[in-house]
Parts: sequence; structure tokens; C-alpha cells
Amino acid sequence: MHRRRPRRPRPRDRAPALAPSSYALPVSSVPTVVVEPLGSDIVAIAQCIVLDADAFPYASATFGLRSASARAWIARSEPGSRVVGFLAARVDGRRLSVHGLAVDREARRRGIARSLLREAIAYARDLGLWAVILHVSLANRAAIALYSAEGFSVRRRLRDFYPPAAFDGETDAYEMVVDPRTPT
Ligand SMILES: CC(C)(COP(=O)(O)OP(=O)(O)OC[C@H]1O[C@@H](n2cnc3c(N)ncnc32)[C@H](O)[C@@H]1OP(=O)(O)O)[C@@H](O)C(=O)NCCC(=O)NCCS
Repeated sequence: MHRRRPRRPRPRDRAPALAPSSYALPVSSVPTVVVEPLGSDIVAIAQCIVLDADAFPYASATFGLRSASARAWIARSEPGSRVVGFLAARVDGRRLSVHGLAVDREARRRGIARSLLREAIAYARDLGLWAVILHVSLANRAAIALYSAEGFSVRRRLRDFYPPAAFDGETDAYEMVVDPRTPT
């Protein structure tokens, strides 16, 4: 895996844009997954929107919207191929707040979400951030298992965080957090 050199922390307003680099990780069922920043490629943005619409009963991210704090990564099975997963986040003070993560149904359980999450955590570490934070429905066992396996822990339970129609009546969310500076 490509490793970046650690950098000194920078204030939020000077947060660097995502590096235009990508890397490939070996995963179990496919030869590689390529994780790269989501740029301004309109086709990739459209593919993210399709994945988002299939995975969630609401739009979890605003892909392509220009925002100084927005960060997003995409996964492809090979360079230039269709987007099979995304992670959308924003830099919020000293935190990277993840607000969207989804993988194509046909490509799940191949380590793609894990690769996206690790890329985001590495980015937060390089930026000197103190936490990567997200919210997940108590009904979402797959996502909770993923986050727990990647070092996140439950910080608190938020009552009535989601509307009843979103997750089969389960309205509570866990707020989960990991310190990107903690070695995994
Ligand atoms: C949750 C989601 C992103 C996982 O994506 P994925 O690419 O299939 O996950 P990975 O293959 O990287 O899984 C990594 C680990 O997470 C856990 N995990 C992932 N899916 C799981 C499932 N269905 N059941 C139990 N554990 C699961 C496992 O520990 C897994 O490791 P393993 O395969 O070695 O056992 C995917 O199921 C998805 O897109 N769901 C719909 C959208 C969603 O719920 N997003 C999260 C919102 S908070």
C-alpha cells in the first residue's frame, strides 16, 4: 500500500485538496480495488449517485457540489472501470465526518468498504485530525461490524436520529469514532 509521509497538522482553512494519487490493494475475490479521490468526472459522480440511491432511502451525499470541506473517494475494480463504491466525508474542525459509504450490491464482501475507510482514515491521519466520526443505524449490522473491525467504537447512542421510514422503524443511531493517530 502506498504510504504517505506524516505531515504537520494544518488548520482547517488550509486543508489540502485530495491528492490525485490512487493505489491498489489486493482483496479476496477480485484482483485489486483501486481507491482514488472523486474528482470532477461527471460519469463517476453519476455512478456515485446511482450507488447512493440504491443503498439509502435518502441522499447521503452531495457529490460534485463544490465545497471547501468536502472529501470523497471512489473505488473501482480496475483503473477506469465503473465505480463500485464511494465514501463521502467532510473536514469539520479537527474531525473527518463520514456521511456516506456504499458499495455496489454485486461487489460486497470483497473488502471494498474497508479499503475506502482506510483511505479516509489515512487522509485524516496525514492531516493531523483527531477523529473520524460517523453515524450508523442500530439496524445496520453489516456497517456496525465493518466499523468495529476497523477500530471504531461507539461514543454514544442518539435517539430518533433517523426518520422511522429510513431503517424499518429503527430510528436510533450510534455515533462511532476512531482516532486516526491510533495504530491499527
Ligand atoms: C456496509 C457496506 C458499505 C459494506 O461494504 P463491503 O464492501 O461489503 O464491506 P467489506 O467487504 O469491506 O467488509 C469488511 C468487513 O466488514 C464486515 N462486514 C461487511 N459486511 C458485512 C455483513 N453483511 N455482515 C457482517 N459483517 C460484515 C466484516 O467484518 C467484513 O470483513 P470480512 O468480509 O473479512 O468478514 C455495504 O454492505 C453497503 O454498501 N451497504 C449499504 C449502505 C450502508 O449501509 N452503508 C453504511 C452506512 S453507515
